[in-house]
Amino acid sequence: MKGFLSVGSLGRSGLQSLIDRAGALREAIRDGEPVPQALGGRCVANVFFEPSTRTRLSFDLAAARLGGHVITFDPETSSTSKGESLRDTVATIAAIGSDILVVRHSRDGIPQMIAEWTGVPVVNAGDGIREHPTQAVLDAVTIVRHFGQTDGLRMVIVGDIAHSRVAGSLMQAMPLLGIDLTLAAPTAWLPEETSLSTTDALSDALEEADIVYLLRVQKERGGAITDEYVRDFQMDRARLARLDERAVIMHAGPINRGVEIADDVADSPRSLIVEQVRNAVPTRMAVLEALARDMG
Ligand code: CP
Repeated sequence: MKGFLSVGSLGRSGLQSLIDRAGALREAIRDGEPVPQALGGRCVANVFFEPSTRTRLSFDLAAARLGGHVITFDPETSSTSKGESLRDTVATIAAIGSDILVVRHSRDGIPQMIAEWTGVPVVNAGDGIREHPTQAVLDAVTIVRHFGQTDGLRMVIVGDIAHSRVAGSLMQAMPLLGIDLTLAAPTAWLPEETSLSTTDALSDALEEADIVYLLRVQKERGGAITDEYVRDFQMDRARLARLDERAVIMHAGPINRGVEIADDVADSPRSLIVEQVRNAVPTRMAVLEALARDMG
């Protein structure tokens, strides 16, 4: 792996390898077993131009558990505020001695651009409305650990699909694993062209679902919360009751309680949201390990 910009580039076997490795790493951490120090002192730079809790902290811990050093770029307190360009900023972070750059940016395609500018392997930690590939891998890890396998499962992705990079990566990763996708959203948030099933009536999709994957409304990218949206799409107790008894709720976080998800659904035993977070560190360790392996 030279970098990790898009989950679709993995193919099924590449994705399955990361899922298997993440599972093994999670067991090793749980059992207190030593983990191979794959980074062996290499430096991972977290370069986040947008806020993050889960992704940035889990990359921090993943790199530390693999014997790496972590440096963190903070745009608020960096020389960006003195007028330094993006290109000069990332060239500086690379020249300091970064071996891997973990990049989040509000604009589509910036991680790819930084990889080309610097020649340093880049992990896409979320770009614009395009992709969040490590999120999709940890979601796949969560699904495999819960259901035991993936082929033939049915997932409904609900909400602000138009502005969601999580949806962008799920729409590539889930079909690779044989998971059947339906997109449920107000018409304005559904893709104009897609081979996937779509509906603007959530109720129609719930009874068949094994997994209901809820999305946050991306206000920072133009999504607007309306009373109609909350009424027609919020996963609440009544909608939860319509699901098959083995169906589960997922959400990448951060969740907005009272908008896309009601309190009693977020805190229900049917929710895998906390489990998704538990899989974040082993998944990101598997990604960093794969990158380190190919760096020689
Ligand atoms: N799921 C996710 O990307 O969360 P953060 O924005 O907190 O990293």
